[in-house]
Amino acid sequence: MPSFTLARGRLLRVLEESDAQELHELIERNRPRLARWMAWAVEHQTPGQTLDFIRVTRRQLSANDGLQTALVAEGRIVGMVGFHSVDWQNRATSLGYWLSEDEEGQGTMTQAVATLTGHAFADWHLNRVEIRADVENARSRAIPERLGYRREGMLRQAYRISGDRYSDDVVYAMLAAEWPAAQRRDTSSR
Ligand SMILES: CC(C)(COP(=O)(O)OP(=O)(O)OC[C@H]1O[C@@H](n2cnc3c(N)ncnc32)[C@H](O)[C@@H]1OP(=O)(O)O)[C@@H](O)C(=O)NCCC(=O)NCCS
Repeated sequence: MPSFTLARGRLLRVLEESDAQELHELIERNRPRLARWMAWAVEHQTPGQTLDFIRVTRRQLSANDGLQTALVAEGRIVGMVGFHSVDWQNRATSLGYWLSEDEEGQGTMTQAVATLTGHAFADWHLNRVEIRADVENARSRAIPERLGYRREGMLRQAYRISGDRYSDDVVYAMLAAEWPAAQRRDTSSR
């Protein structure tokens, strides 16, 4: 099973069915702030629905259609980051992420996204990794911007959060050929 070591004892690992209760409680604690941006967080879930989600992530992995990882700090899950699916024909994928409020502000997600971007290029030999973020979601947009992803444009009312509430999404992408220079820039700016 893939796993990735990050700085400060953080790591990315696939979800296990035994994570369901812990993940459920973490989502419940963070639900109001997650629901501002992400449709799946708008309605309350049961622990059983969280278990179903974990099973979907395991099927995604065995179908070679990407990877969802739990971000773990000192043995506790503090967020999620992963690929929605893989378009093997076009060698392209996209990333999504969220963090527990108490883990924000330390660069954890920026490092996680950098790690998975590198994985997509080096291990899966993909050509394009895309990130979409609500134009108003400054913290989310800062991640691809910090990593040197290129802003390609904005899709108006592209994502339905709930009811008649849509977000205008900024599209960012990194290409395989751009990644080495982006990494050098990222390292030298710290
Ligand atoms: C989007 C989200 C993951 C961003 O979290 P974040 O903590 O801002 O992102 P990071 O973990 O990369 O941390 C970056 C912060 O750590 C700081 N930082 C400290 N050390 C750092 C380092 N070595 N590298 C990068 N940033 C560092 C940065 O300055 C930044 O803080 P600032 O915004 O106060 O300047 C989080 O706000 C979230 O989960 N939001 C709700 C869900 C959501 O919007 N998901 C995205 C949907 S598209």
